Amino acid sequence: MTASPVSASEHATLPPLTGIRACVFDAYGTIFDFASAAASCPGIPEDRRAALTALWRDKQLQYTWLRALLGRYADFWQITADSLDYALDSLDIRTPGLHRRLMDLYLGLSAFPEVPGMLRALRQAGFTTAILSNGAPAMLEAAVANAGLTGLFDAVFSVDPLRTFKPHPSVYRSAVDGLGVTAQEVSFQSSNPWDAHAASVCGMRVVWCNRYGQRGERLPGAPDREIRTLAELPACLAPPTLTA
Ligand code: LAC
Repeated sequence: MTASPVSASEHATLPPLTGIRACVFDAYGTIFDFASAAASCPGIPEDRRAALTALWRDKQLQYTWLRALLGRYADFWQITADSLDYALDSLDIRTPGLHRRLMDLYLGLSAFPEVPGMLRALRQAGFTTAILSNGAPAMLEAAVANAGLTGLFDAVFSVDPLRTFKPHPSVYRSAVDGLGVTAQEVSFQSSNPWDAHAASVCGMRVVWCNRYGQRGERLPGAPDREIRTLAELPACLAPPTLTA
């Protein structure tokens, strides 16, 4: 049994995590709403919109893992394009120009509504803030700017220089090294439970933002806290000024 022994309701009663200096965030699904691309795009049959978002995302993640195992790296932009191609084909959606439009929209995904206020609160409390993502650097730069989050992150770390993907341990290590902190001083937030477990295995403290109401993974590691949206995050962390 490797599932978290702490239930979601018990998490809410736990004391704030202490000794945290940096808050590191997964990007897609955690900061940026990947469903917002298909949601705002004309030319997708209504009855296949949700299926397209789900299949596109599932294939995107699978291709990262498969390419990493194969040793055939391609950046997340290509993987996002390939997985979209697969999803449109699988769902028999053949609207001309749709692939291009959805890829353009992926550069301008909406941030979840609580994100700007939550980041401001963390920064005001003295935390360093950063993104750690599979996204290619240009994708992340565009997403941050287009969502109006410029200036709210101290650093944006992409897997790209490592030429592999999460959950390879080198990815989590790169953020720790890049920020000049210890893994234990990082609170890592992801909506992807497998990403949360991996960061925990790599020594980070972890807050699982369980936006999608998923069940706990049966994987090594365990989140330290579970929340439903990032609005709950600041209350989970003791400010560094109080615990330094
Ligand atoms: C990322 C994907 C895993 O941003 O959501 O790294």
